Amino acid sequence: MAQETHVLDRPPEGASADWTIPQNWDAYTPEEHATWDTLFARQAKLLPGRASNAYLKGLEALRLSESGIPNFEELSERLMKLTGWQVIAVPGLVPDDVFFDHMANRRFVAGNFIRRPDQLDYIQEPDVFHDVFGHVPMLADPVFADYLEAYGRGGNRALELGALKHLGRLYWYTVEFGLIAEPEGLRIYGSGIVSSSAESIFALDDPSPNRIGFDLKRVMRTDYRIDDFQQNYFVIPSFEALLRATVETDFAPLYGEIMAQPDIPIAEILPTDTVITRGTQAYARSKG
Ligand code: PHE
Ligand code: FE
Repeated sequence: MAQETHVLDRPPEGASADWTIPQNWDAYTPEEHATWDTLFARQAKLLPGRASNAYLKGLEALRLSESGIPNFEELSERLMKLTGWQVIAVPGLVPDDVFFDHMANRRFVAGNFIRRPDQLDYIQEPDVFHDVFGHVPMLADPVFADYLEAYGRGGNRALELGALKHLGRLYWYTVEFGLIAEPEGLRIYGSGIVSSSAESIFALDDPSPNRIGFDLKRVMRTDYRIDDFQQNYFVIPSFEALLRATVETDFAPLYGEIMAQPDIPIAEILPTDTVITRGTQAYARSKG
């Protein structure tokens, strides 16, 4: 998930100076591995025809279908060969600059704990299923791998410019909740969607949310919710287009521009939007 809050300001006991901890793979119980397998089986059935080609290809290439919680060392070895990324364990949320430094160096930080069996559908803190099943397959895609590395550098720059709120929305609406238009139709690539069985249906099929063509400045001005299904999804035409709009763009002047403008409320549609689906917002309204 996006790094919004953190509790600690120095690494906890047992963690290294860069906040990493051993995954401690041998300590997982059979029940914990079984939780992974249950979640995996459910998503594996749902995702063909829903997840982007890049995501499905990554899942395959990394052999995430092997039983049990992946061992980060073995996973990193496979991922390293494909795109030079690694997966490292951290104790929950880490400070923003630590998160960005790892990312800028192609190290993806993941939680090592797994949700309890009574939390299969929802957890607040990202666990190993969200972090590994949700995020890591996309890191096997060379274009997305470059995007996330550049995002890490951009994160530290946004910190200096006081623009983290704006950059964080880009992460939210792409890395976590992004949709892509593929020749066969809309597909999901955001980790928050692919790791959630209910949202992987809702994001594509439900009449409630807006689906809007991706526009960088628009996205960086748009509020989001962290407590329920999204009311807006932004659709990129391709990962190459996302890369061009972000990696090859200097954000400093954009931050100046958007900081002088009001935030856009969650479900609002603007006259300048490319609307793919105008949502009814019935789901959000039914929740009060
Ligand atoms: N190009 C952005 C900047 O100038 C950094 C960035 C790259 C942000 C990729 C997001 C994704 O700050
Ligand atoms: Fe996440």
